[in-house]
Amino acid sequence: MAHNFGTAMVTSFRPTDQSGIEPRGHSSHKGTVPRISITLVPAPITLMSDPRVTAIPRADCCKPILDLGRGASAMADVPGGAIHLFGGRMTGGVVRVGDSVRRPTSASSAFVAALLAIFEQREFHGAPRYLGQADGMDSLSFIPGEVPANFRHWEDNQVAAAGALLRAMHDATRDSELAGRSPVVCHHDASPSNCVFVDGVPTAWIDFDTAAPGSPLEDLGYALWTWCIASKCTVPVERQAEQVKILADAYGIQRPERGAVVDAILERQARNARFWTELMASPENAPATPDVLASRVEWSRRELAFTAQHRSVFETALA
Ligand SMILES: Nc1ncnc2c1ncn2[C@@H]1O[C@H](COP(=O)(O)OP(=O)(O)O)[C@@H](O)[C@H]1O
Ligand SMILES: [Mg+2]
Repeated sequence: MAHNFGTAMVTSFRPTDQSGIEPRGHSSHKGTVPRISITLVPAPITLMSDPRVTAIPRADCCKPILDLGRGASAMADVPGGAIHLFGGRMTGGVVRVGDSVRRPTSASSAFVAALLAIFEQREFHGAPRYLGQADGMDSLSFIPGEVPANFRHWEDNQVAAAGALLRAMHDATRDSELAGRSPVVCHHDASPSNCVFVDGVPTAWIDFDTAAPGSPLEDLGYALWTWCIASKCTVPVERQAEQVKILADAYGIQRPERGAVVDAILERQARNARFWTELMASPENAPATPDVLASRVEWSRRELAFTAQHRSVFETALA
């Protein structure tokens, strides 16, 4: 059924507005894969308080959240010994079977398998191992730990660990066939909700569906946004900028690229708005309802406007 989204697009916002709807990583080399939304079933998590509580309207900068579908890892038993893994919002049917995670195969499967093999060969341990395919599912090693929701303020050591982990992942892909003519393979969705925390420390990336050759700045911009800025409406912008510096330093980004870091954040925010806008044009492939898609576009634009308005604060911190 055709939908008219023209009136669903909300473009009115204040640049100081940061509400809590998460971005979605994306790369350009993959075809569209059928996705479904998963309703969050929160599990006990020991890191910090539930971010959906801290990010939902406390200050008037926060707008109502339409989708809470992506969040802290949670499990539910299903017949056959498999345990449903909730917490993602893009891939339906992710389950744990013993020490493995099974994900439905997709257009990304071959690339992800090759990428995880490179990580293993090059002894990068911050990702699952690829175990093979069975019954239309990719099998990966299960990494014990916690996979949190994005909406919270992270401690400095957590932000720093994320930056170092991103750098180690990139370094493991340099000069590989998979990176091709690009400097590295990017994850393209290196947000907290795709990271396994062990004892509170970001330790491994998961969910490589959007991985593709790219520039380190693409991932760095996205990580800086999702770890340090996104929906941090209760955190002063100066503190957000401090954490941007902490993550960028831990990554080790140097001049001249360092001078383009804020542009990289803005670019990823704009790309996020485009990603959800494009999905609105093909609702049959969309992983969410028109209202939710519109709210993601709106949120991405607010985040972009917020970052642009405070550009000098972020640049001063990085100088
Ligand atoms: N290798 C893994 N080790 C541990 N947990 C995993 C692993 N892969 C996925 N998960 C869990 O399954 C959830 C959904 O997986 P994910 O690949 O992120 O799906 P989505 O594409 O929907 O975001 C994650 O939030 C995480 O809790
Ligand atoms: Mg995920």
